[in-house]
Amino acid sequence: MARLAATASLLCAAAAAAEPLDGRAIFTGAVVGLEDGATARRLARSPCHSCHGRDGRGGVEGDAPPIDWSVLSRQTIDRLAYDEARFARAVVEGVDSSGRALSRLMPRYAFSQGEIAALQDYLERIGAEQRTGATANSVTFGLPELPGSPVLTEELAVAIRSGLADALGGGTVWGRSVEIVTFRDGAPPPSMLAVLSPRVEAVPGYAALGVPTLFPLGALEGDEDPSIVRAATPSRAGVRAALAGAIAAADPASVTIIATPDTRERADAEALGLALRLESPAMSERIRISPGARKDAATDRDALVILSEDGLNAARGWPGPVWLSWSALQAAGGALEGGHPLFAVVETPWIVRRAIETGGHPIIAHGERIGAATAEALMAAGRNLTRGGLLEALEDARLDEWGLDYATHPLTGAADVMFVTLNLRQN
Ligand code: HEC
Repeated sequence: MARLAATASLLCAAAAAAEPLDGRAIFTGAVVGLEDGATARRLARSPCHSCHGRDGRGGVEGDAPPIDWSVLSRQTIDRLAYDEARFARAVVEGVDSSGRALSRLMPRYAFSQGEIAALQDYLERIGAEQRTGATANSVTFGLPELPGSPVLTEELAVAIRSGLADALGGGTVWGRSVEIVTFRDGAPPPSMLAVLSPRVEAVPGYAALGVPTLFPLGALEGDEDPSIVRAATPSRAGVRAALAGAIAAADPASVTIIATPDTRERADAEALGLALRLESPAMSERIRISPGARKDAATDRDALVILSEDGLNAARGWPGPVWLSWSALQAAGGALEGGHPLFAVVETPWIVRRAIETGGHPIIAHGERIGAATAEALMAAGRNLTRGGLLEALEDARLDEWGLDYATHPLTGAADVMFVTLNLRQN
């Protein structure tokens, strides 16, 4: 009794402290300032959601049980109901509500009382948060406006709705209609289950609010957590690996990667250089990263890699093979000249092929495809829909037709990178 009273007063002290602790950030391992350093490291390695699921419904890893507070606070045939003190004992000491030791699969975390209270507070609202945007009759997705393009945004919304309707064979899934609500990027988002196709830069902001992202525009880095974000195009790391493989297979005498110092491009170039060295250690000595190309000494066996528009000048008069990123190619317009083999990296072959077939904008092809993928995920997720459950369901969704496979590529669904040879007239 005395101990419980002490616990309670500690909890009050924590509640009175200036900054309320963010229980979601503890649950997801995103928290930075935990009182105990070793616990912070353990949590970063093994956040609760990695075993108990983003929605706390359990079963993601091993036999992790549901830990939503509505479940913990009820007695079961195996154990007593949890209260604050029993919850603290389970998490800190690994002893369940009936006094039995939990298996070693459940880590022990030396949380402070304040941290435990914040965690419990989150587990009390996790169920509602996870069902945001889903009612008995409808499920809502937010679609942020494409920067400066309200018209294209509307067309994207139409394409997504059409992809959804085709895949669902009508309007509803598990008795719910699916709503796509557009909103201004940066404005307060609507009440939504997940956000569809925001700019890739916006993904961390949504994740910090507990909002999952489906199919961002732009490539992810490749190390993001697929329980909160799933893309429909290869990551930057994936594209780099594919590019390194293609260049190594061509076995050039040297490789010059064009990049200006101190830029994002330079960091990309260095990462590509590293990927090339991994792919072909023998080539290590022959890779250069440079702001310009040395054309005088170059031969038709020296390769050039251009990652952005800024590097296009270097391609002029270059005698050897040139590899161009998709964005550099799009920026090039008529600025490219022929004479040497030119390879463009296409990171989204499915979308580009479809856009060429239909003569439509690639964003429309993207919309139809992600509409279909969202529909399949909703069907696989079942009636008891949560944010975490929707993202998990992508792994069970049938998406081959759309060139997507989340069981094999959990984060991106696709690793397909295509290299097209451009035949330009020599002028
Ligand atoms: C590495 C996987 C893993 C991680 C990470 C993990 N757990 Fe567990 N947890 C388990 C497993 C497995 C059990 C069941 C152990 C048993 O029944 O003996 C469990 C049991 C529990 C229980 C007891 C539930 C009951 O019904 O008695 C609670 C409470 C709990 N975990 C909370 C948490 C919290 C909070 C976090 C994050 C701070 C967390 N767990 C992180 C795997 C994990």
